[in-house]
Amino acid sequence: MSPTVFQQADALHPALSDPKNVQYTYTDPLSEVPALSGVDASFDGSTPIIDMEGLLGPRRSEFIKQIGHACEKNGFFAVRNHGIPEMKISNMLDTARDFFHLPEEERLKFRSSDPDSIIRLVTGFQDKTRNIFVSRQSLKFHCHPVEDFKSHWPSTPPSFREKVGEYCASVRKVEVAILEAISESLGLERDYIDRLLKGHYVSINYYPACQESELDVTHGVRTHTDPTIITILMQDDVPGLQVINDDKWIDVNPIPDAVVVHVGDMLQALSNCRYKSLLHQAIVNCERERVSIASYCYPSDDAAIGPAKKLIDDDHPAIYKDFTYKEFHESMWRVKCSTAKRLDLFMAESD
Ligand code: OGA
Ligand code: NI
Repeated sequence: MSPTVFQQADALHPALSDPKNVQYTYTDPLSEVPALSGVDASFDGSTPIIDMEGLLGPRRSEFIKQIGHACEKNGFFAVRNHGIPEMKISNMLDTARDFFHLPEEERLKFRSSDPDSIIRLVTGFQDKTRNIFVSRQSLKFHCHPVEDFKSHWPSTPPSFREKVGEYCASVRKVEVAILEAISESLGLERDYIDRLLKGHYVSINYYPACQESELDVTHGVRTHTDPTIITILMQDDVPGLQVINDDKWIDVNPIPDAVVVHVGDMLQALSNCRYKSLLHQAIVNCERERVSIASYCYPSDDAAIGPAKKLIDDDHPAIYKDFTYKEFHESMWRVKCSTAKRLDLFMAESD
């Protein structure tokens, strides 16, 4: 999920803008934000690619090992043969573009000051501390089950509800299958993580092409981790996503017909830090606009997010204490931080 949700919280939540009501725990050190011109954008071939069809066949255990290895070593991987029909993907991307090409007043109808609202539009903004413009615009909304939320979504463009609904239902299936594989890769029951699941939230991200003269001071999305179990990111064909691997920034360029899956904060906690939440960001370019669709699954309020008992022993003491999703979600308003450091509030030794 994007840091905007949290970093703009004080501006959006009237109660939070009163300093008496807020006790910020952490802030992101500026050193975490790399200078845009200094990014060591790298080589291709660095993205592990998993063929999801393999999970359905007789070599399932081999594919589960590959997924476990990618989560542990890289924190992300691309998935091919995920089963989302090509047509649903192109319809989703076209609908996303159509929405962001609507006149501003049409889009701004979805602007909301409530970060927990069913749907809301987030616009670009100036980050004065870092002297950069964060250009991403996004439409964020709940979508599982689709029928419960559809009536809140835009009715312009007219195909929005149908096309977005189809994509959301398909990506949810991928999410469940990947979470089953991730549970197994940790030696947990296949449905360990699925049992915690409740909703699903999508962010349609739109990055306008940037003026050449502004490129140095424009960022797509600043460095962050997602407060999810996993995130499934579908990108159009314009590069922009970068992740930290082996202490270096690398480009995760779009791979045709593949989606990117990455580890989020809650999986870091559940796995007792075996899988680390991925630090990532998005950059912009001057030639083409870019669209990406991020799908975030979230657990039910009472879901236990602390390390799975099976992963704790004398050699692997619990790094986090037991906590619920509700506690994690509520604490995010006290943490002015957009990385997995927000989990530090739940460290075992802080008891
Ligand atoms: C996000 C995000 C990156 C991208 O939506 O949380 O990190 O490439 N998006 O759009
Ligand atoms: Ni993200």
